[in-house]
Amino acid sequence: MRELVMQALSSVEGGYDLLAPKFDYTPFRTPDGVLDATAGVLRPLSPFGPGLDVCCGTGAGLRVLTSLGQGPVTGVDFSTGMLAQARRAHPDATWVRADVGALPFAGAFGLAVSFGALGHFLPAERAALFAGVYRALRPGGVFAFPIGAPLPITSGWYWALAGFDLAMRVRNAVWRPPFVMYYRTCPLSAVQGDLTASGFTVTTLPLTALGRRADGSPKARLVLARTASTP
Ligand SMILES: C[S@@+](CC[C@H](N)C(=O)[O-])C[C@H]1O[C@@H](n2cnc3c(N)ncnc32)[C@H](O)[C@@H]1O
Repeated sequence: MRELVMQALSSVEGGYDLLAPKFDYTPFRTPDGVLDATAGVLRPLSPFGPGLDVCCGTGAGLRVLTSLGQGPVTGVDFSTGMLAQARRAHPDATWVRADVGALPFAGAFGLAVSFGALGHFLPAERAALFAGVYRALRPGGVFAFPIGAPLPITSGWYWALAGFDLAMRVRNAVWRPPFVMYYRTCPLSAVQGDLTASGFTVTTLPLTALGRRADGSPKARLVLARTASTP
């Protein structure tokens, strides 16, 4: 509890530095089921070339990139602690410490993935993030990430996530540094609009392996944002 409180009062970067040694045992690490469902949807579209994991944390996304046989893989994150864990688990990959709001790559990757990180960016910050990913990709490259279907208002999770976001807004109103993490700021329509504004052509595919709702709709979709095929 003490550790969780210390993390909650830190910045995003500092909080993840503190959490890093235990991160893989928390529910915040993207589960292998989500990673494998993503790889399953991407596989028919491969090969992509070199891969990038944006906000890589301890390196969960490498399970996707390496299973697709992309060749060289790179992870980028701003938490030194998370990168140290990632480097220990995957010594052959390249690990770069950077704020992904200003990604330091140009035309280097065929595929970029990102898991569990979009909630760390305010809607107004997405333009810089997506522009940086666009710049990092080669012509015809793909930026892929899963996104959950909107929860019905009758669902317990709807209220749990709304409660979490409200608690974070109160925390950020009264405490510095802020810890930006909101679950309900990145609905598919808004994210799709921001990607399109950054130059991507956006489609989505259902992540059927993650299950369906009672009405038959998929619980999650994979966003596939492609750069123009000519520079
Ligand atoms: C919930 S963790 C997800 C880690 C990993 N992708 C996974 O799915 O297990 C979010 C990660 O995003 C990183 N992050 C958040 N904002 C960032 C930023 N502006 N620049 C770089 N990394 C950032 C954090 O340091 C953290 O490692």
